[in-house]
Formats: sequence, C-alpha cells, structure tokens
Amino acid sequence: MLQFVYKMNLNDKPNSNFSPQADDIKPDVFYNIFDAIKYLPSLIKRFGVSSELLKLLLKLVLKRDAFYCLIINKKIVSDGLITFGRCNYYDVGKQDCIIGTVYSEPSYRGKGLATTAIQSCISNLIVNRPLLEAVYIDTSENNIGMQKVIDRLGFGQPFHTYERHQS
Ligand SMILES: CC(C)(COP(=O)(O)OP(=O)(O)OC[C@H]1O[C@@H](n2cnc3c(N)ncnc32)[C@H](O)[C@@H]1OP(=O)(O)O)[C@@H](O)C(=O)NCCC(=O)NCCS
Repeated sequence: MLQFVYKMNLNDKPNSNFSPQADDIKPDVFYNIFDAIKYLPSLIKRFGVSSELLKLLLKLVLKRDAFYCLIINKKIVSDGLITFGRCNYYDVGKQDCIIGTVYSEPSYRGKGLATTAIQSCISNLIVNRPLLEAVYIDTSENNIGMQKVIDRLGFGQPFHTYERHQS
C-alpha cells in the first residue's frame, strides 16, 4: 500500500497560540512518565490494562516518544504518538519528529477532534521543544479521512511516498 508522507517546517509556522474553543476540551502532551501517571485512569480507560499501555509507558520512560491527547470529561477522545528524531520507514533529522498512530474514539469521529488534537499538539511542541525543526506525518493512500485532517492542518502536498507492506 502506498503511504503518503507530509512535512511541516516549524520555521514556517510561527503562530503557536492555539486554544480550543470549548472549556471542557483539554489538549495535553505527556513528555514523560510523570505526566502520564496523572492521567492513568484515563489511559486505562483508553487502552485497558494491556501490552499497548505498557509499551506506551515504557516509551515515555525512555523519553524518545511523547503522547498527545484530547480529553473531554476525563475521557481521551483523540490521541497519538510523537516520535523524536527517528523513523523506521524514511529519513528524518535529529531535530524532527513524527506524529503517528493517530486515533479518534469511533463515537467521536467526524467532529474535528483529530484535527484539533494535532493542531494543539504542534502548538505545544513549538513552545516546549523550541529546537524542533520539522513535523512529519504519514498516512495511506486509501485513508481519505486522515488525508482530510492533514490537509486542514496545512501540511500541503505529500513530500514523499513509499510502499509499506502489511505485517
Ligand atoms: C482518521 C481519524 C484519526 C480521523 O479522526 P476524526 O476525529 O474523525 O478527524 P476529524 O473529524 O478531525 O476529520 C476527519 C474528516 O475526514 C472525514 N472522513 C472520515 N472518513 C472519510 C472517508 N472515508 N471519506 C471521506 N471523508 C472522510 C470526516 O467527515 C471529517 O471531515 P469533515 O470534518 O469535513 O466532515 C479517525 O477516523 C481514526 O481514528 N481512524 C482509525 C485510525 C486511523 O486510520 N488513523 C490514521 C492512521 S495515519
């Protein structure tokens, strides 16, 4: 399956003042395990007590990844991983990151939440990781919903494509 890769240079996006419209929507980024522990009940609700949750917590301990999410009434409704300085599929720089495994709760889809979550994540990165140079995001050729999100975020046309084989 063909995968589209998009790139946003953070120098081109100086505006980091993003604030969600509704008071009950809280965007957050967990950069380490202590950030995540504060939201452990919400994370357990999202992932269950699962190997996926354990892997996420381990990634936060190692600090090579961060986790962004959008919370409504203590429920994580949209989230994803931020991976710093490395990618298994294409070259990225040490000062770049990849936003990946974007996910919205099925009953909350089509309400703009993935777009809002990633937009506030990028704003948070600009403030808290000032040395970051670029954000990459990728999706498959048949994921029209995700392509719509990426377009609305202002990533523009794909920067690169590659064939990803199903594992
Ligand atoms: C892709 C995904 C993250 C989008 O989350 P979301 O919260 O619904 O995103 P948004 O509401 O911000 O935007 C989605 C847009 O795509 C549209 N859309 C969704 N599926 C679509 C489809 N098959 N064809 C056309 N448009 C589609 C939605 O209607 C919406 O557009 P609109 O606001 O103009 O109506 C969510 O569908 C999801 O979690 N999917 C499963 C995991 C996945 O595919 N992740 C991406 C991997 S890179």
